[in-house]
Amino acid sequence: MEKRYYINTYGCQMNVHESEKLAGILESRGYRAAAEQDSADVIVFNTCCIRETAETHVLGNLGIVKKLKERRPEIVVAVCGCMVQKDGAAVRLKKRCPFIDIIFGTHNLHRFGEYLDRLSETASVVDIWEREAAIVDDVPLHRDSGVNAWLNIMYGCNNFCSYCIVPYVRGRERSRSIDSILAEAETLVKQYPQITLLGQNVNSYGNDRADGATFSVLLKKICELPGSFRVGFMTSHPKDLSEEVVRTIAENDKMSRFIHLPVQAGSDRILHLMNRRYTSGQYSDKIKMIRDYLPDAGLSSDVMVGFPTETEADFADTLRLCADVRYNNLYTFIYSRRSGTPADKMEQVDQKIKKERIRRLIAQQAEIGAQLAKEAVGKTFRVLCDTYTDGVCGGKTDCGRAIAFTSDTDLTGRFVTVRAERAEHSKLFGALTNKTEDRR
Ligand code: 5AD
Ligand code: SF4
Repeated sequence: MEKRYYINTYGCQMNVHESEKLAGILESRGYRAAAEQDSADVIVFNTCCIRETAETHVLGNLGIVKKLKERRPEIVVAVCGCMVQKDGAAVRLKKRCPFIDIIFGTHNLHRFGEYLDRLSETASVVDIWEREAAIVDDVPLHRDSGVNAWLNIMYGCNNFCSYCIVPYVRGRERSRSIDSILAEAETLVKQYPQITLLGQNVNSYGNDRADGATFSVLLKKICELPGSFRVGFMTSHPKDLSEEVVRTIAENDKMSRFIHLPVQAGSDRILHLMNRRYTSGQYSDKIKMIRDYLPDAGLSSDVMVGFPTETEADFADTLRLCADVRYNNLYTFIYSRRSGTPADKMEQVDQKIKKERIRRLIAQQAEIGAQLAKEAVGKTFRVLCDTYTDGVCGGKTDCGRAIAFTSDTDLTGRFVTVRAERAEHSKLFGALTNKTEDRR
């Protein structure tokens, strides 16, 4: 009988994409996807450790899998990714959950197949590489079938924001070569109407290479590939987003007009403590530069509340900055202590205060989102359709805004023109105009 696998993915898009690699490795060995965890022969946990809640979710589900394994001891349980890459974490986890068969970190994902094989000779495998290995470009991939394809352009992060665990578990920045990225992009844009370039800090793409590769050169070359497709990217660090990149976006119709530019906080004192290396004024200048080149750009941001020592006045700066920028989307987080990071040793803010602040931030954003949606009514957008249910198409505009409209046919994967007719809170509803574009 065919063996089945199930992958639990936690965390960011990078992990979502790396789970496609894990799936690729499993598929190349004859495994097929299981509909749910309970019926799988191999259960994988691709973990995240950015906040404590991410780890709590993993541990909770591991508890469920432990029971499953008591009933069916032949199940293989594998745990990988950021949570086990932390110092000593793999050994601690194995002690706490001895039923786990395979544990591996972020630098040796491509070895997963070998670890599965090794289980025929050994009871369990724990292999964490302390240092980042050379980039492995030829890991088999089993991609999700949606309209978007993820494409890794670089790995790791050199920024060491004082709250963040990522540089410790993902290592230093390593960029893939333009040639290998272009070869992958060329195949992808024949199959997918949208590709999203991934990296922790895409604006420093190429800095670690001696061949002159830069992010804007890469974007230009990808846009030169034939076909009608859309190119997005994430994530940008505000200090590194250059005018050259913004100009490249403005000059290329294939570039998405949606930029995720995490600000984290609005207070200069807090930004300094966070080691973000920009002030709120410098951040606002970047936003102005983006709007000068791209007046219709959609913007989103990550914002953290309750960073150590944050006062009411600091938080008011954050509220003010968010109100000034008027983001389309805001990803809001309560600061979570991460051991081994500098912020963990600073004076902490009371949990009740943190919760109250995030509530106010979310409420303010809901109002801004609704206002922006109202202002969009009457405008016409190019939309890439990504869902179709009960006669309603959903999609995203070039500036990253979600919009729904009725349609007799399933237009998933097609670019169409939609006029926004009505707003409900921050949601937009529209109608197809008769100008429908074909993909190729
Ligand atoms: N606590 C809360 N949020 C965090 N982030 C990163 N580290 C932490 C932490 N320790 C948030 C940042 C980042 C996003 C991916 O997660 O806002 O941009
Ligand atoms: Fe973490 Fe800062 Fe690197 Fe983003 S840029 S991954 S927040 S250290």
